[in-house]
Amino acid sequence: MLKGKKILLGVTGSIAAYKSASLVRLLVKAGADVKVVMTPSAEGFISALTLSTLSKNEVLTRIATDHQWANHVMLGRWADLMLMAPLSCNTMAKMASGICDNLLMSVYLSATCPVMLAPAMDEDMWKHPATRRNLATLESFGHKVIPVNHGELASGLIGEGRMAEPEDIFQFVQDFFLNSQIWAGKKVLVTAGPTYEPIDPVRFIGNHSSGKMGIAIAEVCRDRGADVTLVCGPVSEPMPTGIKDIPVKTAADMYEACVKEFPEMDIAIMSAAVADYTVLNPAGQKIKKKEDSLQLELVKTKDILRALGELKRDGQFLVGFALETNNEKENALAKLQAKNADMIVLNSLNDAGAGFGQPTNKIIIFDRKGREQSFPLKHKKAVARDIIQSIHEALHP
Ligand code: CTP
Repeated sequence: MLKGKKILLGVTGSIAAYKSASLVRLLVKAGADVKVVMTPSAEGFISALTLSTLSKNEVLTRIATDHQWANHVMLGRWADLMLMAPLSCNTMAKMASGICDNLLMSVYLSATCPVMLAPAMDEDMWKHPATRRNLATLESFGHKVIPVNHGELASGLIGEGRMAEPEDIFQFVQDFFLNSQIWAGKKVLVTAGPTYEPIDPVRFIGNHSSGKMGIAIAEVCRDRGADVTLVCGPVSEPMPTGIKDIPVKTAADMYEACVKEFPEMDIAIMSAAVADYTVLNPAGQKIKKKEDSLQLELVKTKDILRALGELKRDGQFLVGFALETNNEKENALAKLQAKNADMIVLNSLNDAGAGFGQPTNKIIIFDRKGREQSFPLKHKKAVARDIIQSIHEALHP
């Protein structure tokens, strides 16, 4: 995921420096090329040997050794991202005022790449007005600050100031690279939410879809630079900003909107829970409670995904969802073929925490080239990132 990305990790004197080892491991495992620069005081918390073994690169600490001068300018220019983790109160203050008294500071002052910070300190230091001011200064430089955690601190006190966990920092780094507008100029159509099929003017047949998954997908596509059109059924979630949203009610409305928009699109992701049947002749007036039983005649709706699969031209990428309760893989693969999709995202209602209304989801992705990717239970925004990453990989093998 981070293949070929050059990351310069600055490690400063904080007890959280022991977590830098895990961070380096995560980055290297994801394919990044990691070089570590430590401040002299960081050496008291973690050994250069540990970090050089994990990063597979020499760890630099001093501007000059007996025979050699570390070329801080070239190091600063080498990196795609400079990450300070942990960032101590002291180094933060030096960065804010441009003090250049060690190798890490001279690399920082020479760096032309974006800079990300993971501060670590005790709560009182974190809340001190000097720290607040320094942080504001660094933010004004355009540096991205990874929020600190609340928890047990080195002092033994509980409070704010713990460095974010390595997994969270890793996620920020990954997002940074993904966020770098990989889909700039791409047009993406997303469907979300349920459809409501009217029975009469006050009643409808609907389902439990909250629209959360599709909305998260639309947001992630937007954050990747795409031009997003979201066709969304009735939901209570707020619509994301920076996208074109087309609100619809029925499966027929959604079909019409999608068929109209699709020719212009590069990618279409159909995550809506579209009704499969609609009421043949909805009553024009409210149905009164006269009879003991009431029969509704239902007729099949048009399958939007299938229709787009038929309209699909070369260069368009079509993603469908499959919500299954049994024979999940078999049904998902059958939908991939039958609807001429390029990818199917399977959710099983058998997985706890997955599916309708939940903030989380657990998916398996199947594509036409036979790729199958299983993901653990994640927050829907993280699931959306996995889906977008998987589409991106399929488009750029
Ligand atoms: N879908 C659609 N139009 C419909 C019904 C479904 O576009 N009228 C899309 C959904 O948005 C989803 C995919 O088809 O991307 C699969 O939906 P799902 O309900 O799992 O499957 P169905 O095709 O409806 O089949 P079944 O209900 O028999 O499982």
